[in-house]
Amino acid sequence: MAQVEFQEVVKRYGSFEAVKSVSFTVEDGEFVALVGPSGCGKTTTLNLIAGLLDLTGGAIRVGGRQINDLDPKDRDIAMVFQNYALYPNKTVRQNLGFPLRMRKVPKRELEEKVNDAARLLDITHLLDRRPRELSGGQQQRVALGRALVRDPQVFLMDEPLSNLDAKLRVQMRAELKRFHQDLNATVIYVTHDQLEAMTMADKMAVMSGGVLQQYDTPERVFEEPANVFVAGFVGSPAMNLLPARVVENGGAVQAAGEGWELALSPRNAASARRASGDAVILGARHSSLILHEEAAPGCIAAKIYTVEPTGDLTYAHVEVGGKTFVISLDPQRRIRADQPVWIEFDQDRLHLFDAVTEQRLPPG
Ligand SMILES: Nc1ncnc2c1ncn2[C@@H]1O[C@H](COP(=O)(O)OP(=O)(O)O)[C@@H](O)[C@H]1O
Ligand SMILES: [Mg+2]
Repeated sequence: MAQVEFQEVVKRYGSFEAVKSVSFTVEDGEFVALVGPSGCGKTTTLNLIAGLLDLTGGAIRVGGRQINDLDPKDRDIAMVFQNYALYPNKTVRQNLGFPLRMRKVPKRELEEKVNDAARLLDITHLLDRRPRELSGGQQQRVALGRALVRDPQVFLMDEPLSNLDAKLRVQMRAELKRFHQDLNATVIYVTHDQLEAMTMADKMAVMSGGVLQQYDTPERVFEEPANVFVAGFVGSPAMNLLPARVVENGGAVQAAGEGWELALSPRNAASARRASGDAVILGARHSSLILHEEAAPGCIAAKIYTVEPTGDLTYAHVEVGGKTFVISLDPQRRIRADQPVWIEFDQDRLHLFDAVTEQRLPPG
């Protein structure tokens, strides 16, 4: 397995820049999820590694070797696609063996590798079937097996689970994670699903508009989102974001908006003072807010818009300062639409962003 290094990688389609000077390094054996909304440049980035597209600028190195100009077949990289791309008229055994036959691998060795891959993926009993006789999850495993037999330096996967139904997706998510743990493989995994990225990856490369927004562990991306985009993209329900002005009131630093004000803790006040102007954006996750049914000091007055029970948790949608916040509640709580409520912010879990640059403000 090998390290993969992106250095100021640029890809233009005509005059449209789909990948904008992206730099990051995937360490040997790491599982990295390339995650972002549709059209942000994930597939383009993956295809640049695979050699299906040419770079416009920058460099990609695999195991220290620059591969920009190498033919795809010489790159020693295996790709698993969303639609599996299995040969319908070949058996599972023939599908698995195909990449090896193309490389004229001796028959004995070929059989051994096919059997090893089948055992690892638990598809030995399916070897004589054809793809149409398999379930979606089984086809996915065959596609994975076909990448595996090649023993590549890097696995690339482009939304490999998005054709599966929700339940199977969760199951295959765990299987893929286990596959990575067993093999210690270098994997670059493309998904638009932030939860998939959070649950599977060692590191997340969050992209938007062709720009790499943050590259870090899922924990850090969640706890310390680099900017407003990442804050809103990672986590479900999404982080509540509230524009505010920073005002000094009799020595106290407050964040104030449409009909509300909130005294900031000393740490958050120092952080807010680092903003380029007086405009900031407050970010609070649904789980960090406390809902009171009676007025309480330091809280913001609000009104319940609607209540969504989901079984394990109830989500209260709350109107505050012209915005709607989502707050998770114990399902035992009885809250009604239009009820007046008061929101308490956990200041230790409050995120502050500069409203102009949209970047995270460092702690005071
Ligand atoms: N062959 C192409 N020609 C022109 N524009 C393209 C081409 N392929 C992709 N794009 C554009 O580049 C952007 C990134 O596409 P893509 O990498 O497929 O995004 P993602 O995989 O994140 O959904 C999109 O705006 C898409 O429309
Ligand atoms: Mg794509």
